[in-house]
Amino acid sequence: MKTRGIIMLGGRGIRLKPMTEYISKHLLPVYNKPMVYYSLSSLIYSNIREILIICNKHDLNIYKKLLKPIAKKYKIKFSFEFQKKIGGGIAESLLIGAKFINGCKKVVLILGDNFFYGREFPRLLKKTISKKNKSFVFLSPVKNVKNFGIAYLDKRKKLKKIIEKPSNSKSNLAVTGLYVYSTSHINNLHKLKRSRRGELEITSFNNRLLKNDKLDYINLGQGITWFDLGSFNNLYQCSEFVKVVENRQGKKISGLL
Ligand code: G1P
Repeated sequence: MKTRGIIMLGGRGIRLKPMTEYISKHLLPVYNKPMVYYSLSSLIYSNIREILIICNKHDLNIYKKLLKPIAKKYKIKFSFEFQKKIGGGIAESLLIGAKFINGCKKVVLILGDNFFYGREFPRLLKKTISKKNKSFVFLSPVKNVKNFGIAYLDKRKKLKKIIEKPSNSKSNLAVTGLYVYSTSHINNLHKLKRSRRGELEITSFNNRLLKNDKLDYINLGQGITWFDLGSFNNLYQCSEFVKVVENRQGKKISGLL
Protein backbone atom coordinates (compact mmCIF):
# COMPACT_ATOMS: atom_id res chain seq x y z
CA MET A 1 0.00 0.00 0.00
CA LYS A 2 1.46 3.25 -1.12
CA THR A 3 1.75 6.03 1.44
CA ARG A 4 2.99 9.54 0.86
CA GLY A 5 3.96 12.22 3.34
CA ILE A 6 3.40 15.96 3.53
CA ILE A 7 5.48 18.25 5.74
CA MET A 8 4.09 21.70 6.46
CA LEU A 9 6.87 24.24 6.68
CA GLY A 10 4.80 27.35 6.14
CA GLY A 11 3.23 29.71 8.62
CA ARG A 12 4.26 32.98 10.18
CA GLY A 13 6.08 31.79 13.28
CA ILE A 14 4.47 34.61 15.24
CA ARG A 15 5.45 33.30 18.66
CA LEU A 16 9.11 33.09 17.62
CA LYS A 17 9.58 36.67 16.50
CA PRO A 18 12.06 38.32 15.94
CA MET A 19 13.85 35.05 15.01
CA THR A 20 11.29 34.25 12.33
CA GLU A 21 11.30 37.71 10.77
CA TYR A 22 13.92 36.60 8.23
CA ILE A 23 14.44 32.91 8.91
CA SER A 24 11.94 30.12 8.41
CA LYS A 25 10.86 28.75 11.80
CA HIS A 26 11.69 25.22 10.69
CA LEU A 27 15.32 26.07 10.10
CA LEU A 28 15.89 27.24 13.66
CA PRO A 29 18.22 24.97 15.61
CA VAL A 30 16.83 22.44 18.03
CA TYR A 31 20.05 21.69 19.91
CA ASN A 32 22.32 20.61 17.04
CA LYS A 33 20.07 20.27 13.98
CA PRO A 34 17.55 22.31 12.06
CA MET A 35 14.03 21.82 13.40
CA VAL A 36 12.81 20.21 10.15
CA TYR A 37 15.09 17.19 10.66
CA TYR A 38 12.86 15.91 13.44
CA SER A 39 9.54 15.87 11.58
CA LEU A 40 11.28 14.61 8.46
CA SER A 41 12.86 11.72 10.33
CA SER A 42 9.44 10.74 11.70
CA LEU A 43 8.41 10.09 8.09
CA ILE A 44 11.70 8.53 7.00
CA TYR A 45 11.80 6.10 9.94
CA SER A 46 8.30 5.01 8.97
CA ASN A 47 9.52 4.15 5.47
CA ILE A 48 7.85 7.02 3.66
CA ARG A 49 9.91 7.92 0.61
CA GLU A 50 7.65 10.27 -1.36
CA ILE A 51 7.37 13.55 0.46
CA LEU A 52 5.78 16.87 -0.40
CA ILE A 53 7.31 19.93 1.20
CA ILE A 54 4.95 22.89 1.57
CA CYS A 55 6.72 26.08 2.50
CA ASN A 56 6.60 29.83 2.00
CA LYS A 57 7.69 30.91 -1.46
CA HIS A 58 10.80 32.77 -0.37
CA ASP A 59 12.12 29.71 1.51
CA LEU A 60 11.82 27.30 -1.40
CA ASN A 61 15.45 27.35 -2.55
CA ILE A 62 16.91 26.96 0.87
CA TYR A 63 14.78 23.85 1.52
CA LYS A 64 15.72 22.40 -1.84
CA LYS A 65 19.39 22.80 -0.92
CA LEU A 66 19.00 21.48 2.61
CA LEU A 67 17.11 18.38 1.51
CA LYS A 68 19.29 17.41 -1.44
CA PRO A 69 21.83 15.28 0.48
CA ILE A 70 19.02 13.70 2.52
CA ALA A 71 17.15 12.79 -0.68
CA LYS A 72 20.29 11.14 -1.98
CA LYS A 73 21.09 9.20 1.17
CA TYR A 74 17.58 7.85 1.80
CA LYS A 75 16.39 7.72 -1.83
CA ILE A 76 13.54 10.10 -1.18
CA LYS A 77 11.57 11.81 -3.88
CA PHE A 78 10.79 15.30 -2.66
CA SER A 79 8.16 17.50 -4.31
CA PHE A 80 7.74 21.15 -3.47
CA GLU A 81 4.78 23.50 -3.31
CA PHE A 82 4.23 26.78 -1.53
CA GLN A 83 1.34 28.40 0.25
CA LYS A 84 0.19 31.47 -1.65
CA LYS A 85 -1.13 33.12 1.45
CA ILE A 86 1.23 32.78 4.40
CA GLY A 87 -0.81 31.37 7.27
CA GLY A 88 -3.60 29.88 5.14
CA GLY A 89 -4.06 27.06 7.61
CA ILE A 90 -2.98 23.45 8.00
CA ALA A 91 -6.00 22.01 6.16
CA GLU A 92 -4.98 24.03 3.12
CA SER A 93 -1.99 21.71 2.74
CA LEU A 94 -4.39 18.95 1.69
CA LEU A 95 -5.76 21.21 -1.03
CA ILE A 96 -2.28 22.25 -2.16
CA GLY A 97 -1.22 18.61 -2.07
CA ALA A 98 -4.28 17.28 -3.94
CA LYS A 99 -2.32 16.33 -7.05
CA PHE A 100 0.53 14.85 -5.03
CA ILE A 101 -1.72 12.52 -3.04
CA ASN A 102 -3.75 11.49 -6.04
CA GLY A 103 -3.23 7.76 -6.54
CA CYS A 104 -2.03 6.81 -3.07
CA LYS A 105 -4.15 5.23 -0.34
CA LYS A 106 -2.83 6.99 2.73
CA VAL A 107 -1.20 10.28 3.42
CA VAL A 108 0.70 11.24 6.55
CA LEU A 109 0.63 14.95 7.27
CA ILE A 110 3.11 16.29 9.80
CA LEU A 111 3.75 19.82 10.96
CA GLY A 112 7.38 20.80 10.62
CA ASP A 113 7.47 22.18 14.16
CA ASN A 114 6.45 18.90 15.78
CA PHE A 115 8.92 16.60 17.54
CA PHE A 116 8.19 12.98 18.40
CA TYR A 117 10.57 10.68 20.22
CA GLY A 118 10.25 7.16 21.54
CA ARG A 119 11.37 3.68 20.67
CA GLU A 120 7.86 2.57 19.77
CA PHE A 121 7.02 5.62 17.70
CA PRO A 122 8.02 4.53 14.15
CA ARG A 123 6.38 1.14 14.67
CA LEU A 124 3.21 2.78 15.96
CA LEU A 125 3.04 5.11 12.99
CA LYS A 126 3.58 2.25 10.54
CA LYS A 127 0.89 0.20 12.27
CA THR A 128 -1.55 3.10 12.15
CA ILE A 129 -0.91 3.65 8.45
CA SER A 130 -1.72 0.00 7.78
CA LYS A 131 -5.17 0.26 9.42
CA LYS A 132 -7.96 0.36 6.91
CA ASN A 133 -10.99 2.61 6.60
CA LYS A 134 -10.14 5.20 9.24
CA SER A 135 -8.14 8.38 9.46
CA PHE A 136 -6.20 9.09 12.66
CA VAL A 137 -5.07 11.83 14.98
CA PHE A 138 -2.43 11.29 17.66
CA LEU A 139 -3.05 12.55 21.18
CA SER A 140 -0.61 13.51 23.89
CA PRO A 141 -1.32 14.83 27.41
CA VAL A 142 -0.44 18.49 28.07
CA LYS A 143 -0.64 20.92 30.96
CA ASN A 144 -1.39 23.99 28.89
CA VAL A 145 -4.54 23.28 26.87
CA LYS A 146 -4.83 26.84 25.52
CA ASN A 147 -2.21 26.32 22.81
CA PHE A 148 -3.59 23.22 21.15
CA GLY A 149 -6.48 21.44 19.58
CA ILE A 150 -7.93 19.46 22.51
CA ALA A 151 -9.64 16.09 22.10
CA TYR A 152 -12.66 15.05 24.17
CA LEU A 153 -13.46 11.38 24.75
CA ASP A 154 -16.70 9.95 26.03
CA LYS A 155 -17.03 7.48 28.92
CA ARG A 156 -16.24 4.62 26.59
CA LYS A 157 -13.09 6.43 25.45
CA LYS A 158 -14.53 7.11 22.04
CA LEU A 159 -13.44 10.37 20.40
CA LYS A 160 -16.33 12.84 20.67
CA LYS A 161 -15.03 16.18 19.42
CA ILE A 162 -11.97 18.38 19.07
CA ILE A 163 -11.93 22.01 20.18
CA GLU A 164 -9.22 24.31 18.86
CA LYS A 165 -7.42 26.14 21.67
CA PRO A 166 -10.10 26.14 24.38
CA SER A 167 -9.58 28.70 27.16
CA ASN A 168 -10.16 25.99 29.75
CA SER A 169 -10.89 22.35 29.44
CA LYS A 170 -11.72 19.18 31.34
CA SER A 171 -9.63 17.19 28.90
CA ASN A 172 -5.85 17.53 28.72
CA LEU A 173 -5.38 15.52 25.54
CA ALA A 174 -3.77 17.65 22.85
CA VAL A 175 -4.10 16.76 19.20
CA THR A 176 -0.51 16.65 17.97
CA GLY A 177 0.58 17.86 14.56
CA LEU A 178 0.57 14.43 13.01
CA TYR A 179 -2.34 13.10 10.98
CA VAL A 180 -2.86 9.90 9.01
CA TYR A 181 -5.56 10.27 6.39
CA SER A 182 -7.18 7.77 4.09
CA THR A 183 -7.04 9.68 0.84
CA SER A 184 -10.64 8.69 0.09
CA HIS A 185 -11.62 10.84 3.10
CA ILE A 186 -10.01 13.96 1.69
CA ASN A 187 -12.69 15.82 -0.21
CA ASN A 188 -14.82 18.94 -0.15
CA LEU A 189 -12.08 20.90 1.54
CA HIS A 190 -13.22 24.07 -0.17
CA LYS A 191 -16.49 23.74 1.73
CA LEU A 192 -14.67 24.26 5.04
CA LYS A 193 -15.23 27.72 6.46
CA ARG A 194 -12.18 29.81 7.30
CA SER A 195 -11.83 30.44 11.01
CA ARG A 196 -11.65 33.81 12.73
CA ARG A 197 -7.87 33.80 12.24
CA GLY A 198 -8.54 33.38 8.49
CA GLU A 199 -7.27 29.80 8.33
CA LEU A 200 -8.61 26.53 6.98
CA GLU A 201 -8.36 24.79 10.33
CA ILE A 202 -7.30 21.17 10.46
CA THR A 203 -9.57 20.86 13.51
CA SER A 204 -12.66 21.74 11.41
CA PHE A 205 -11.67 19.10 8.90
CA ASN A 206 -11.06 16.50 11.61
CA ASN A 207 -14.39 17.27 13.28
CA ARG A 208 -16.11 16.74 9.96
CA LEU A 209 -14.44 13.34 9.58
CA LEU A 210 -15.47 12.53 13.13
CA LYS A 211 -19.11 13.36 12.40
CA ASN A 212 -18.98 10.93 9.49
CA ASP A 213 -17.40 8.25 11.67
CA LYS A 214 -14.16 8.30 9.71
CA LEU A 215 -11.77 9.52 12.40
CA ASP A 216 -10.17 7.64 15.26
CA TYR A 217 -7.26 8.39 17.56
CA ILE A 218 -4.07 6.94 18.95
CA ASN A 219 -3.05 8.03 22.44
CA LEU A 220 0.74 8.45 22.57
CA GLY A 221 0.62 8.47 26.36
CA GLN A 222 3.75 8.98 28.43
CA GLY A 223 5.98 6.62 26.49
CA ILE A 224 6.36 8.90 23.52
CA THR A 225 7.66 12.41 24.01
CA TRP A 226 6.05 15.16 21.99
CA PHE A 227 6.97 18.80 21.65
CA ASP A 228 5.37 21.52 19.61
CA LEU A 229 8.30 23.81 18.84
CA GLY A 230 6.36 26.97 18.11
CA SER A 231 7.46 28.88 21.23
CA PHE A 232 10.80 29.84 22.78
CA ASN A 233 10.13 27.82 25.90
CA ASN A 234 9.42 24.64 23.97
CA LEU A 235 12.34 25.25 21.64
CA TYR A 236 14.62 25.58 24.63
CA GLN A 237 13.18 22.62 26.52
CA CYS A 238 13.28 20.34 23.51
CA SER A 239 16.89 21.35 22.76
CA GLU A 240 17.75 20.46 26.35
CA PHE A 241 15.89 17.14 25.99
CA VAL A 242 17.79 16.23 22.81
CA LYS A 243 21.07 17.28 24.41
CA VAL A 244 20.52 15.19 27.54
CA VAL A 245 19.45 12.05 25.67
CA GLU A 246 22.20 12.31 23.04
CA ASN A 247 24.95 12.98 25.56
CA ARG A 248 23.80 10.16 27.78
CA GLN A 249 23.33 7.55 25.05
CA GLY A 250 26.06 8.71 22.66
CA LYS A 251 23.69 8.50 19.73
CA LYS A 252 22.00 11.22 17.75
CA ILE A 253 18.25 11.75 17.70
CA SER A 254 17.13 12.30 14.09
CA GLY A 255 20.76 12.44 12.99
CA LEU A 256 19.87 12.12 9.35
CA LEU A 257 23.28 12.89 7.89
C1 G1P B 1 -1.86 23.49 15.26
C2 G1P B 1 -3.26 22.89 15.28
C3 G1P B 1 -3.59 22.37 16.68
C4 G1P B 1 -2.52 21.37 17.13
C5 G1P B 1 -1.13 22.00 17.02
C6 G1P B 1 -0.06 20.94 17.27
O1 G1P B 1 -1.83 24.64 16.04
O2 G1P B 1 -4.19 23.88 14.88
O3 G1P B 1 -4.84 21.71 16.66
O4 G1P B 1 -2.78 20.98 18.47
O5 G1P B 1 -0.90 22.55 15.72
O6 G1P B 1 1.23 21.43 17.10
P1 G1P B 1 -0.95 25.91 15.58
O7 G1P B 1 0.47 25.46 15.60
O8 G1P B 1 -1.41 26.29 14.21
O9 G1P B 1 -1.23 26.98 16.59
